[in-house]
Amino acid sequence: MSSSIVKRGAEATITWGEWHGRQVVVKERSPKAYRDPSLDKHLRTTRTRREAGLMAEARKYGVRTPVVFDIDIVNSIIIMEHVEGELAKDVIQSSEDRNEIARLIGRSVGLLHLNGLVHGDLTTSNMIIQAGNVNLIDFGLGERSHEPEKKGVDLHLLKEALDSAHSQFPELFDHVSQGYLEVYGEGEKILTIVTDIEKRGRYS
Ligand SMILES: Nc1ncnc2c1ncn2[C@@H]1O[C@H](COP(=O)(O)OP(=O)(O)O)[C@@H](O)[C@H]1O
Ligand SMILES: [Mg+2]
Repeated sequence: MSSSIVKRGAEATITWGEWHGRQVVVKERSPKAYRDPSLDKHLRTTRTRREAGLMAEARKYGVRTPVVFDIDIVNSIIIMEHVEGELAKDVIQSSEDRNEIARLIGRSVGLLHLNGLVHGDLTTSNMIIQAGNVNLIDFGLGERSHEPEKKGVDLHLLKEALDSAHSQFPELFDHVSQGYLEVYGEGEKILTIVTDIEKRGRYS
């Protein structure tokens, strides 16, 4: 497989390559020397398995995620579709369509939550905009849960990510909320939890 490293993050190395004629991304969670070896193995294995499983499941609910082509649990590697697009982080900064993108992000998260999936790391670096559609990536910290509190924490993290990476556009979360409620009828309850979490943060 021809390949080139594009990102070496804290958790994983991302490589672009070609695999059976397809443009793919290879995400490898390499061993971390600073972690206890058995804990390290456990974390890499569970996050890899989770990520591949949740991406595939999210697609069933109409949330765009990269197609998983292969998974190597022993080496903590996922081979997935290379989504050609731009990070939401960059699009939101530069495009006039940022509010519409925020609404679509809200719809994607709403679909996840409606179906009992929590992403765990909702930042605009974990979303790729391709032809106007939102693709969610980086599900390694996600889980299956219908607990309202977990969904609230998930959305609160997104609100904080928007406030810090896109502070010039304070209305973004309102548009996220709008999209969220469009697909998730009971989402109002979760939005109330987001407000509660913010209050707790402010007064504790
Ligand atoms: N399937 C993909 N298609 C295109 N780019 C990707 C894909 N997966 C990851 N990337 C790029 O690599 C970066 C890091 O990937 P990510 O899964 O978020 O790993 P990390 O855990 O290091 O944050 C993303 O922000 C994105 O730019
Ligand atoms: Mg990421």
